Amino acid sequence: MTFGRKGWVAAGGTSSFARSRNPAKSGHASFPRRHGDEAEERIAAALGDCQPMNADILRRLVRAIVDGSQDDLTRLAHKVVDAERRTGHTKLAEQLEAILRKPRLIKNGSAPSVESDRGMKELPLSRRHGELLATVVPRDALEHYMVLPVDIEHRFARIEREYAARERLGAYGLRNRKTILLYGPPGCGKSLGAKRLAWNTGLPLLKVRFDALLSSYFGESASNLRSVFEAAKERPCVLLLDECDFIARARGNSNDIGEASRIVNSLLQLMEEYDAPGLLVATTNVEESLDSALFRRFDDVFQVPPPGSDEIEKLLRVTLSAVNVADSVNWNSLVRQLAGASAAMTVKAAQDAAKAAVLCGEKTVTEALLEKAISELKHVETEPKR
Ligand SMILES: Nc1ncnc2c1ncn2[C@@H]1O[C@H](COP(=O)(O)OP(=O)(O)OP(=O)(O)O)[C@@H](O)[C@H]1O
Ligand SMILES: [Mg+2]
Repeated sequence: MTFGRKGWVAAGGTSSFARSRNPAKSGHASFPRRHGDEAEERIAAALGDCQPMNADILRRLVRAIVDGSQDDLTRLAHKVVDAERRTGHTKLAEQLEAILRKPRLIKNGSAPSVESDRGMKELPLSRRHGELLATVVPRDALEHYMVLPVDIEHRFARIEREYAARERLGAYGLRNRKTILLYGPPGCGKSLGAKRLAWNTGLPLLKVRFDALLSSYFGESASNLRSVFEAAKERPCVLLLDECDFIARARGNSNDIGEASRIVNSLLQLMEEYDAPGLLVATTNVEESLDSALFRRFDDVFQVPPPGSDEIEKLLRVTLSAVNVADSVNWNSLVRQLAGASAAMTVKAAQDAAKAAVLCGEKTVTEALLEKAISELKHVETEPKR
């Protein structure tokens, strides 16, 4: 994508945003939804095809100011941050992000509304105790920056592009990928993937609470599950069944032939009939224990793998982008030490080293600090679980 060609450079001077290239490759651009499906589709296609889109951003910016839409402005600001990060201006990206994180002034006594959370006010309640069966993850809490191998990045991006093009696909009798199963080892981005999909589609993230959903009373868990699916049908959202093995274990393997297998049957049926306007994302790190009948009911099933060498280095560098890092750091050696580690552990090692650097007053992250953090965490990951 060349932001510069249609005037953004002229208007914006030498901003690296103006010079950013092909964000579709890193795939975490986000698009406001309020101006309709067609516009979304156009932008998604523009990103994918590396076409200029500066005029569109300017239009959105001006429209958001005129509409007084804080949500649109915030999304545009995040988009600028993403673009800066992609062009290697990680410090500026961090600074901008820090500004965006600051608490906002609330004008006229009204709470800052999030467009995508509107309409999710009526959340489903459990039949017997009136407990919330699902919660909306606040938009501010939606992490969405992911480091992934190219092929997996493409699979996420395809879901987002199909969602943006859902009406055009519908005109040909085709349905966008709506139901997705993400599997893979812990800490590598399954839950994060659901948040990113919510962020990039502009849909609210509705996370199902299995603790409230499951009941020991006959048929009640299934009825609760049905209520959740109905809520998702009424209001477009990303419905997240996080660690879905909780309710989707193979029927044959279960000792409980009552409520547990009933809920699996209900889930299979609800998935079969699923035709909600949003997306459904289920995650698990024990895919082998899921009921085999479940897999073919998903439109897309793929693994979110542990990071390879390139991803480990990128995760370290991005996490450390807000602090000084000693020039002498040997990244290859650190990557070797982290071989096989989860993305979560890699991020944490970098954060621990950064904190240690700040606390010891040196403010520069050295290889020794990173090695110490890695060895401490490795120790934790390999310790036998009690
Ligand atoms: N691919 C990734 N890119 C960037 N950060 C990541 C990635 N995967 C994980 N992380 C970091 O690790 C944290 C935990 O990731 P996440 O919750 O998505 O793991 P998970 O795969 O859902 O694990 P679990 O199976 O234990 O639920 C994230 O909040 C993020 O900070
Ligand atoms: Mg998870």
